[in-house]
Amino acid sequence: MEKKVTKIGVLTSGGDAPGMNAAIRAVVRTGLYHGLEMYGIMRGYQGMIDDDIFRMESRSVANIIQRGGTILKTARCKEFYEPEGRKIAYNNLKKRGIDGLVIIGGDGSFRGAVKFSQEFDIPCVGLAGTIDKDISGTDFTIGFDTAVNTAVEAIDKVRDTMDAHDRIFIIEVMGRDAGYIALHSGIATGAENILIPERRTDINSIIASLQEKERRKKMVNLIVVAEGDEFGGANEVEKVLKDKLPKAEIRVCILGHIQRGGSPSCMDRLIASRMGYHAVESLLEGRHNVFVGIQNNRMNYIPLETAVKNKGKISEEWMKIVKILAS
Ligand code: ADP
Ligand code: F6P
Repeated sequence: MEKKVTKIGVLTSGGDAPGMNAAIRAVVRTGLYHGLEMYGIMRGYQGMIDDDIFRMESRSVANIIQRGGTILKTARCKEFYEPEGRKIAYNNLKKRGIDGLVIIGGDGSFRGAVKFSQEFDIPCVGLAGTIDKDISGTDFTIGFDTAVNTAVEAIDKVRDTMDAHDRIFIIEVMGRDAGYIALHSGIATGAENILIPERRTDINSIIASLQEKERRKKMVNLIVVAEGDEFGGANEVEKVLKDKLPKAEIRVCILGHIQRGGSPSCMDRLIASRMGYHAVESLLEGRHNVFVGIQNNRMNYIPLETAVKNKGKISEEWMKIVKILAS
């Protein structure tokens, strides 16, 4: 019979995302409710290797639900890629009797968890914490809603000045491999063009439509670009457009890391709380080495291995909507 989990460690890893604190709070308080010992691990896998691990009580997570960032801090940990690093991490957990792990992070952190759980007898459960929403099997990832709303607020402001001057604006949002922030914020702000890594862009048709606008002397146009699009971000797109439209007034605005910070939205607090609760329940019920997703308003438990193989996919319908609404 499987051993029941009694001591759980929780960590945040990879890129931070608003709502990670709400998830930590939910994990810790659900574990305490079940009489488990709860441990915080600092700076992701780095803290596991450095033995930077501490007991967490209910008060440890007081007054954090509304805070961006992560109280456990996060890191990208090179040593964890190596078997020797993972062995040190395991020994540090073992000596405290930690027999379950909740990993809040993106697909890279899940890849690390897959390796760790294949090598050692410590079950892992993942919570998708990433503003990029680039994980399949869940309709939500912690941080995406806040990041998109931050982008929308910023783009709305840029639109005011764009409209006042009749200019072309190219706004770059985050998304090294994923276009969800660009797609959602672009649709929500009425962008004429949205450039994402998942799709090839018909740049000639964008140029043709801008040339037509130039003829009509109505050069106002909003282009939202994911940083990882095929051209390599807004500055590169500007070069391509400038080449064909030398007289056009084009401005670039890169939103950058402001999208990662700030107080989490109500939606992110809710999904983080719900997922955090289910992560602990999952470990207790023996549902191991999965990540907790929500699909069609139901909990979905996806093997960590599958999660990292299938990235999120942009639906055809969204692309059609962008095209129709921008015409
Ligand atoms: P994210 O979780 O936001 O996608 P990263 O891709 O940087 O962020 O991954 C976070 C950390 O997870 C890495 O710094 C590393 O410690 C661990 N990790 C990622 N991929 C692997 C892997 N293939 N093997 C072992 N550890 C990994
Ligand atoms: O959190 C994901 C992400 O925001 C990507 O879209 C982006 O490319 C990356 O993180 C940048 O992270 P960092 O500056 O921490 O390397």
